[in-house]
Amino acid sequence: MKTEEAYNQWASQYDTNLNKTRDLDQKKTREILKQYDFKNVLELGCGSGKNTTYFAERAQKVIAIDFSEKMLNLAQEKINLKHVHFKKANLLKIWPVEDSFADLISVNLVLEHIQDLNNLFQQVYRKLNSKGLFYISELHPFKQYIGSKARFEVDDKVHVLETFTHHISDFIDAANFNNLSLVDLQESFDEETKETVPRLIHFVFQKY
Ligand SMILES: C[S@@+](CC[C@H](N)C(=O)[O-])C[C@H]1O[C@@H](n2cnc3c(N)ncnc32)[C@H](O)[C@@H]1O
Repeated sequence: MKTEEAYNQWASQYDTNLNKTRDLDQKKTREILKQYDFKNVLELGCGSGKNTTYFAERAQKVIAIDFSEKMLNLAQEKINLKHVHFKKANLLKIWPVEDSFADLISVNLVLEHIQDLNNLFQQVYRKLNSKGLFYISELHPFKQYIGSKARFEVDDKVHVLETFTHHISDFIDAANFNNLSLVDLQESFDEETKETVPRLIHFVFQKY
């Protein structure tokens, strides 16, 4: 099943199913981003809008992109504000956003579906203003090495989505190649003890 179709099917349960990855991303994203100021935010793959609500509180203008109509519908039901603009678009194509728009670009739990990181980082560079920040929160590659993939269940049938593994060095290489420097790298765990494999990895890059 194509990723767009999969998220259209997943949408009806996305907000309500048990999903440790979704919940940890929500918590850590707020913790990490609270130290930064931003006016204009571009959110890539906003899904059902769980993080769009946070950006809407903190920013003057938010553009949130996704290619799943059903996920976007959920987001629009949650958020009906003049300064938040939802756009249906495929991140693999040209993004409908003017160049140098964003102080902050955020992409949460999306990059495992994007094969070509370099192409995405190129567009990030163009859409960021000078010294703009690029925040990534993603399933940790260590989790991928042991078989974790985005999946959902409908009528007792498990659907596993198409995913691509990006090693930590792949993120760093794509950033270096596109004039983005690493400002922060964090890992987050299910347990405070850190005895498990980390669930998520978070990067903050800055345009130079
Ligand atoms: C796991 S959800 C994450 C949603 C949201 N960022 C969050 O953290 O809850 C992944 C989202 O990425 C979107 N997505 C995946 N590939 C995409 C692409 N090529 N273009 C646009 N959206 C995409 C899906 O439609 C889905 O809404």
